[in-house]
Amino acid sequence: MNILLTGGAGYIGSLACVRLIEAGERPVIYDNLSNSSAAVVDRIAALTGVRPELVEGDIRDRARLDELLKRSPFDAAIHFAGSKAVGESTRDPLLYYDNNVHGSRVLLSALHDAGVRSIVFSSSATVYGDPDTVPLDEQAPTRPANTYGRTKLVIENMLRDLAVAAPDWSVTLLRYFNPVGAHPSGQLGEDPQGPPNNLVPYIAQVAVGRRPHLTVFGDDYATPDGTGVRDYIHVMDLVDGHIAALRRRHGQPGVRTYNLGTGRGHSVMEVLQAFERAAGRSIAHVVAPRRPGDVARYWADPALAARDLDWRAVRSLDDMCRDAWRWQKDNPDGYAAAPDRIRTA
Ligand code: NAD
Ligand code: UFG
Repeated sequence: MNILLTGGAGYIGSLACVRLIEAGERPVIYDNLSNSSAAVVDRIAALTGVRPELVEGDIRDRARLDELLKRSPFDAAIHFAGSKAVGESTRDPLLYYDNNVHGSRVLLSALHDAGVRSIVFSSSATVYGDPDTVPLDEQAPTRPANTYGRTKLVIENMLRDLAVAAPDWSVTLLRYFNPVGAHPSGQLGEDPQGPPNNLVPYIAQVAVGRRPHLTVFGDDYATPDGTGVRDYIHVMDLVDGHIAALRRRHGQPGVRTYNLGTGRGHSVMEVLQAFERAAGRSIAHVVAPRRPGDVARYWADPALAARDLDWRAVRSLDDMCRDAWRWQKDNPDGYAAAPDRIRTA
């Protein structure tokens, strides 16, 4: 299949690109490089022996999308492109409604007019907000607690409405829990700009000496050790979930929503200890008050994806930390050494 990967130069998209090539598909990356580097294409080529085409463009640029869709017939799109920082979404909500919601709207119109009727969308467990009970299945109420999460829910609903109006659309909404880790080669991974917002990249930068210590946000939650509990999923398991979704859902009309998680929760302290084992060194931490907006604990019920997509996460927390550490130690400054690094403000 010819597959359009919006945001395919990013953390998850670049790894999905590797897996798609390995599965014999033909991905084309469409990315404005606002949070990524063109250097990933070299790395993908070195890993797979195939250099995917990278089209530099914005999902809000209808003319550019039309040009691409006219010259390359696509069977399906995987839509990763978007902004994803919770704190930034609270400070600059209009940016998130513009890039995520408006961007997705322009993309969907362009796909629809070009006759593409199959999409896999990167949604997030953040659409659930503070859960009443865990584990979370796909029927749990959606009441996102921040702007970023609300934009994801708006896009989900836009896709649902589109599939009602145009029943030949095949829409798969994948709600990611907490993707971490890297390609096992250490060649592709997460490259946050500025101080990482997320736990594992932060721990990794402390371990490699770029930051003095991890700040643990709260140790007084109602969890076994008092620190927050999340469902961390190896990013390679996550991208395998996309391949499974494409295989099972392509050509099947209607909307399906799946959690992509392991079904297990781990606390901040458990992750820190697993990373210490992976890196073979102790990692300094200090405890600080809770981070506003955080919830105590949640993890997925991934049974529906297992049943419908025949997909399960198989990698352990130790695998996630081992691969995150290999990536960090081999690329202490991420892709920064690459001459074409695009930096955003
Ligand atoms: P990322 O920032 O590494 O990748 C997103 C890519 O989209 C980047 O390469 C960026 O340059 C590109 N992009 C952004 N706006 C664009 C635009 N207007 N036009 C074209 N390209 C644009 O993020 P990621 O971690 O790989 O996340 C991919 C998707 O998964 C996002 O939609 C994100 O919201 C979602 N998601 C991520 C997580 C996570 O923890 N990483 C969790 C849940 C959901
Ligand atoms: N944490 C720390 N110190 C840090 C960073 C995080 O103690 O420096 C803690 C948090 O308080 C939380 C846990 O580590 O208990 C995980 O925090 P992350 O920021 O790594 O992840 P979140 O669960 O807050 O959110 C992430 C992404 C969202 C996505 C969500 C999906 O940031 O975009 O997972 O579940 F939607």
